[in-house]
Amino acid sequence: MCFALSLILLMFYLVFNRSLHSNVQRLVRDLYRMLDEINSEDAPVDLKVAESFDDFIWDTKNNDYDLKSFALRLKATMETMDKELRSSRLSEQLNKHYAAIAIPKGLYCLSLRLTDVYSSNALARKQLPPPELVPRLSDNSYFHFVLASDNILAASVVVRSTVRSALKPERIVFHIITDKKTYPAMHSWFALNPLYPAIIEVKGVHQFEWLTKENGPVLEAIEIQHIARSRYHGNHLARTTAGDSPRVFAAKLQAGSPTYTSVLNHIRIYLPELFPSLSKVVFLDDDVVVQRDLSSLWDIDLAGKVNGAVETCRGGDSWVMSKRFRNYFNFSHPLIATNFDPLECAWAYGMNIFDLAAWRKTTIKDKYHHWVKENLKSNFTLWRLGTLPPGLIAFKGHVHPIDPSWHLLGLGYQEKTDISSVRKAAVIHYNGQSKPWLDIGFKHLQPFWTKHVNYSNEFVRNCHIMEPQL
Ligand SMILES: *[C@@H]1O[C@H](CO)[C@@H](O)[C@H](O)[C@H]1NC(C)=O
Ligand SMILES: *[C@@H]1O[C@H](CO)[C@@H](O)[C@H](O)[C@H]1NC(C)=O
Ligand SMILES: *[C@@H]1O[C@H](CO)[C@@H](O)[C@H](O)[C@H]1NC(C)=O
Repeated sequence: MCFALSLILLMFYLVFNRSLHSNVQRLVRDLYRMLDEINSEDAPVDLKVAESFDDFIWDTKNNDYDLKSFALRLKATMETMDKELRSSRLSEQLNKHYAAIAIPKGLYCLSLRLTDVYSSNALARKQLPPPELVPRLSDNSYFHFVLASDNILAASVVVRSTVRSALKPERIVFHIITDKKTYPAMHSWFALNPLYPAIIEVKGVHQFEWLTKENGPVLEAIEIQHIARSRYHGNHLARTTAGDSPRVFAAKLQAGSPTYTSVLNHIRIYLPELFPSLSKVVFLDDDVVVQRDLSSLWDIDLAGKVNGAVETCRGGDSWVMSKRFRNYFNFSHPLIATNFDPLECAWAYGMNIFDLAAWRKTTIKDKYHHWVKENLKSNFTLWRLGTLPPGLIAFKGHVHPIDPSWHLLGLGYQEKTDISSVRKAAVIHYNGQSKPWLDIGFKHLQPFWTKHVNYSNEFVRNCHIMEPQL
């Protein structure tokens, strides 16, 4: 506003400078009166709007406009500039979005080189964990963590930060699940970079017999998501307009983002079947960093509930922490309106403690499948995309809220994340677009992640993955 006002006064000076010295105040008053008068008036359709500031000055200097024509031209020019500014912000955000979903060259290189090593180096192929430690994989006296990821560097940060923060690292067992394509590389990495005394197993989705059974429900769900993705991806730009608010815009972008439709994102709904002998696991997303010992999560009394999660409907960050069912579902749809409460508090994925024994007594997975199919039948009008909405439905009544200090969400959405709460949280979650491994990561938040990357590792170095300079 201040800027606009100085602009107006400057223009005014340029056009009417002959009389400026004699009666400034009267002129300013006249201009205000005129601007007020034309405020509700549309510019004449045939008005030629200057395309730049220079054009505008040139035009007004070379024409003898009266006050009203001047004011109308000024208004039209400013409106045009404003529109252009908004659309250039939009394209900036679009570029940022593509930077966020494209795989950075360094990470791609890492995956390729580690895949090569898997075939050329026996060490990279050695059994994980060694045969004598295999019994621990199903021993419930250990702390079992599950991580699903196709990003090797991100997975290494999750595992390394967990083990480093642990009071008893020798009690930790990590189960890393990846896709078939990434399996050799992920295996090589953890075979060559073990984190003694913790135990790590790496599995590809193709190695779970339960998952690969023909017409297994997971394949069905993936197929459904695949259809969804091809529907939404590609045409989401057409539905994005300059008038969108940043939130609407962000939601539209996320709907088209492949990370929201990956097989690995659905894997957690099958945990009880994937780990039939385990009774409790902590499931971590690959965009988290663990900063405290997590073993006391296993001591929390879940009171018969299945899913220990942080609620997201109250808390400091008013954008990230104001999520209720109405934020995820279409309550104009009768199927949603009759079954759910728009004010019900949502909770987060990212760090959850799951009681698999309690889970096995429920119909959570069937409910999940049922509603994913309903959404498909309703042509995606129940909710847009993503794995959280069907999760919110399926776990309804099975969630035990845990203290928010366990899991701080919202890193990577905005510049002004509170650093002191980042320092204090047990787990920090970069669930925004600006992932710490991307160039667009927020610089002041990156060190919490980069301090767990070994930049002198030969593969990291050879792929030119470098510590970001502040
Ligand atoms: C589903 O939605 C798309 C666009 O949103 C529309 O073109 C199509 O006709 C709809 N299909 C049905 C069966 O309603
Ligand atoms: C929400 O549901 C109503 C009723 O089925 C439908 O007309 C509308 O298009 C849906 N909205 C979205 C965004 O899908
Ligand atoms: C980092 O990588 C280098 C080279 O591979 C290795 O010698 C070193 O022990 C690693 N450092 C840590 C802390 O793991």
